Amino acid sequence: MEYKLAKQLKTAHPTIIREIYMYACDHRDVFLDLSIGEPSVDTFPLKEIAKASADMYEHDGKRALAYGPYPGMSDCIVEITKWMASRGFDMEKNTIEILPGSGHGMDNMANTFCDEGDVILSEMMAYPGIQNAARMVGAKLIGVEMDDDGINLDALERKINENIERLKFLYLCPSFNNPTTLTLPEYKREAIYKLAQKYDFMIYEDDPYSRLSFDGNYLKEIKRLDTDGRVVYAASLSKIVSAGMRIGFFVVDKSLRQWLEMSQGNAGVQSVPVMLTVANYMKNNDIDAHCIEVGEFYKEKAQWMVDCIKKYLPASCTPVQPTGGIFLWLNVPEKLDLNDIFHKLMYANVGVCPSYGFSADPENYPGHGFRLCYSTPSREDIEKACQIMGRVLKEELGED
Ligand SMILES: Cc1ncc(COP(=O)(O)O)c(C=O)c1O
Repeated sequence: MEYKLAKQLKTAHPTIIREIYMYACDHRDVFLDLSIGEPSVDTFPLKEIAKASADMYEHDGKRALAYGPYPGMSDCIVEITKWMASRGFDMEKNTIEILPGSGHGMDNMANTFCDEGDVILSEMMAYPGIQNAARMVGAKLIGVEMDDDGINLDALERKINENIERLKFLYLCPSFNNPTTLTLPEYKREAIYKLAQKYDFMIYEDDPYSRLSFDGNYLKEIKRLDTDGRVVYAASLSKIVSAGMRIGFFVVDKSLRQWLEMSQGNAGVQSVPVMLTVANYMKNNDIDAHCIEVGEFYKEKAQWMVDCIKKYLPASCTPVQPTGGIFLWLNVPEKLDLNDIFHKLMYANVGVCPSYGFSADPENYPGHGFRLCYSTPSREDIEKACQIMGRVLKEELGED
């Protein structure tokens, strides 16, 4: 049958991750995958979650198996509200909306605010989920040039002015960004919020990684600067407690919740047993202490990857030292053909993500780097992958 696809899908194309995945499936035993941005299951509190779940079925089983309300189970909302209040969020003014993962939040935001032809701004290198969210509502995603510490403020103001008529919101992942690993400094967070006030647009603050700080230092979230209700803050337990349970949440101005709920359509009902299990887990465990442990786990693996890169790769290929999160950004010389290197590495059984796969404008701003992920591969596999990368890159660059 010839399917009459929706026009938004006609501009969709398979992602690089999918290409690697298909190749990796056929080479499962030998493939060294640094491309997939998954948290390590070894960091998840399995014993505590098992207990929280067993207690929930024993004491609350019938409620768990019934339908739940739209914004989420109040037990879970109460625990997350306490957590966010303890982190300095204004929970008098704001409320929690539980999401089936924070990725869903991007679709929800685009559905709520964007009509066809509207504009979403993001950093030039951004999580591809925002490209999908924009495409599905017919909005235009426009990338803003970046500095070494994230979005360039002059370029941002210029792009705001160029698109002021249709601009709906700015998408940012300010802490341990995927893919660039950068953390926006406080002065930029403040300046961006002031621009949003001056030009009257919203900010979508995507924050799945800030709790993975290696040194327990957390910068003030943009949402905590928000006096107008113009920041929609999305976070997730996927990198801390479980990715498979699919729990994310919004912190949003109370007046906004009804619109976000309405635009979820049929996708808005969350799994009740999961929400009640999370509520039990949070009530009986110290999630902040757990986050510190997870950060320490990743810190050690990140340093191992940096050491291997320095040992095996040509000196012109330079890693950005990670300070949190699960990714490492590797800068490579501009003269390299990234697409060619990406395929050579893949055929040598190493999966990496080239920068152009994240670019809002890959034709004009393909970038000169690769995103590598150190969370799931073993130390041994990280070393083997770096040896292979070193060989391929040295051949290509003619360096020793
Ligand atoms: C920047 C960013 N935002 C959102 C998500 C979605 O995460 P989840 O839906 O599991 O909460 C991811 C997942 O990797 C991500 O990297």
